[in-house]
Amino acid sequence: MKNHKHQPVGVFDSGIGGLTVANAISRQLPNEQLIYFGDTAHMPYGDKSKELIRQYASRITGFLLNQQHCKAIVIACNTASAAAYEQLRDQFKGSIPVINVIDPMIEAVIADDSIKKVGIIATKTTISSGVYQEKLSRRKPGLNFSALATPLLASMIEEGYYNNNISAAVLESYLSQPELKDIDALVLACTHYPLIKNEIDAFYNHRVKIFDSAEVVAAKLKWILEKENLHSEQKLAEDQFYVSDFTESFERTTKIFYSHQIQLQRCNIWKNE
Ligand code: DGL
Repeated sequence: MKNHKHQPVGVFDSGIGGLTVANAISRQLPNEQLIYFGDTAHMPYGDKSKELIRQYASRITGFLLNQQHCKAIVIACNTASAAAYEQLRDQFKGSIPVINVIDPMIEAVIADDSIKKVGIIATKTTISSGVYQEKLSRRKPGLNFSALATPLLASMIEEGYYNNNISAAVLESYLSQPELKDIDALVLACTHYPLIKNEIDAFYNHRVKIFDSAEVVAAKLKWILEKENLHSEQKLAEDQFYVSDFTESFERTTKIFYSHQIQLQRCNIWKNE
């Protein structure tokens, strides 16, 4: 398939948390058409094995490339980026850009010399993959860091529990763990977490610098599309939002993650399973 400027950008996540990244992309790149795929039938990815996540990621990428003719793929999920990025990059090397959410975050953290100790919070699979820990210690030896799995947060947010006393109690319990003692920066290494960024910021009384992936990933995509001369100068078609399983509650929750109401379409790419 020949890449073309007017082909869409494919964005996928385990569910609808990746819409935080899609939203940032549509703000920074208003001329790009987005095809979003949320694998709601298999969500959450955060406690699944790497092998299974790789199978899901490969099938979704196949759908975005072969059926939707996307010119670039954004893995808008830390868990899928941790488990499947290398495999997808090698599989599609030279044909299309594949962008993960982890590397742009690492770049942003290591560029900030004021940081002495950085905390990382994410799903179990992301933390146990050791990807953030390995990249930080390789790229900036001497930087102090500590990682903590916070498995309740993604489901809590998907269910609409944030900015209330339940999310405050859950956050207090996680953020008071010894791993996060004395941090001066915190990486929100899950695409659901921008929704609780303000609560986390308030917990730390604005004293901790908080990094989330949405804006840095959108900026990275913009840089790559321009460098490869793949950026669109005019939006010719509407964005499409597909999910592998549909419920009305997903559709309601999308409003939380995206700045306006969008219509989800069910698309079963797992028919032959
Ligand atoms: N959006 C996923 C991430 O960034 C978390 C949700 C899940 O566990 O599926 O890791």
